Amino acid sequence: MAGSPRQRHNIPLPWSWRLTATLLPMVGVVLTVLFFQVYIAPQISKGWRYPFLTAMLLVGTGLFSWVVFGILSQQQSAILSANQRLEKQRDGLNALREASYAMTTVGVWTDIVQNVVDVATRLTGARYAALAVLEDNDSFTIHQFFTSGLSQDQIDKIGHYPTGEGLLGEVIRHRRPIRLQRLQDHPASIGFPPNHPKMENFLGVPLLYQAQVMGHLYLTEKEGGFTADDQAIVELFARQAAAVIATAKFYQEREVFATLKERERIGRDLHDGVLQTLYGITLSLDNLVDSHDNLDQETATELTRVSETLSLLMTEIRFFIQSLESSAIDLRIALTDMLRRLGPTDDISMTFYDERYLELHPERIHDLLLSIQETVSNARIHGHAKRIFIEWTSTDEYYQVKVQDDGVGFVYHPDTTHTHFGIRNMTKRIERWKGSVRIASQPHQGTTVTLTIPWL
Ligand SMILES: Nc1ncnc2c1ncn2[C@@H]1O[C@H](COP(=O)(O)OP(=O)(O)OP(=O)(O)O)[C@@H](O)[C@H]1O
Ligand SMILES: [Mg+2]
Repeated sequence: MAGSPRQRHNIPLPWSWRLTATLLPMVGVVLTVLFFQVYIAPQISKGWRYPFLTAMLLVGTGLFSWVVFGILSQQQSAILSANQRLEKQRDGLNALREASYAMTTVGVWTDIVQNVVDVATRLTGARYAALAVLEDNDSFTIHQFFTSGLSQDQIDKIGHYPTGEGLLGEVIRHRRPIRLQRLQDHPASIGFPPNHPKMENFLGVPLLYQAQVMGHLYLTEKEGGFTADDQAIVELFARQAAAVIATAKFYQEREVFATLKERERIGRDLHDGVLQTLYGITLSLDNLVDSHDNLDQETATELTRVSETLSLLMTEIRFFIQSLESSAIDLRIALTDMLRRLGPTDDISMTFYDERYLELHPERIHDLLLSIQETVSNARIHGHAKRIFIEWTSTDEYYQVKVQDDGVGFVYHPDTTHTHFGIRNMTKRIERWKGSVRIASQPHQGTTVTLTIPWL
């Protein structure tokens, strides 16, 4: 049923119809008159012939009109329902146009995807909609799940988002639409988890952009179920949505790339500029101390202290550069790096009992590194330790770094810390993460410093 609304008044009836409609009554009249002449007229008296023929003709034309109008009204209701369908399609297309516009009005990728889901419910009249984003184009596992029509409370009660099994996975695996009056009847359906709202009719379509899957859109609970026309509109919508999502993703990736480049640049500048300058200054200071024998002891000590402070500062800057360049920092690698910069590390053994240190946030790693550095230099300087053992362990609740030395040990008084800053600062760093520092030491029995920090 193509054609614009203006043309619909002028649809010409086929010629065969016109001819039939014109000839049929004529033939009818001729046949009736003939029939009358041959069979009826001889049987009745002359006075009755004329009224009888008239009656026959009247009944004949009446019957004819009745049949013709029957056919016409049938045609008309067919046209009317085709018209209604057309109007619905037009409404759908209008809604689609508005939806496409609404889809492009926000910026952040996740907002855009959420918006697509919300617009999809409005477009179709579905009560619920969801959009699944996969881990990558070839994967069948749902990575992110955006919903519309469900309250946060309902989502919390269900407990977890679908993983991509059952019916949703069916759309994912076959990359083609599925439309059902009762999703429970589909062989792939595996039912709902407890506390899931009732959902029966279903329409799932993949969001494809240049043969790439941008996600999958699922709609449920449309009053009366989804029609083939709904599916056609949703498929059109899905194409536009896929393009919108692809564009948003592209821009986000570019932004991330630009940020990474910028961080890399800052890191390079710090390394080549600030670090090299600091390095030059420490060299000059060390030279000064070494080559001037006539420096008094106090000045020499002070200069050495400044040089050491600068070295520490350089370590901090190095760490900062490293954190700029990689979003994930590996504690083990960072620790090895840092200890090497302090000097030879033959006296140190490191044991990591599990790999959960890979989940540490860079800021926690920063504080851990500096605390370990302080403990190691205390063990060397004050304890004269020959061996230092560093151990990492963790449980579900906390992680722990133990630094044990075989040095001279000491009697620890927490109140002596106003003249010594190492242990005090370390404690502050660890307490920042709600953790604790435990120092176990006895003269001549070595020292064990234990840092314990909860994960959360
Ligand atoms: N592993 C250790 N073995 C022996 N003594 C230690 C050890 N760790 C710390 N101490 C003793 O505890 C004191 C306090 O240590 P802390 O690190 O707080 O200060 P510091 O090292 O003296 O000075 P700063 O760290 O501020 O440069 C040290 O002076 C030292 O006497
Ligand atoms: Mg110290």
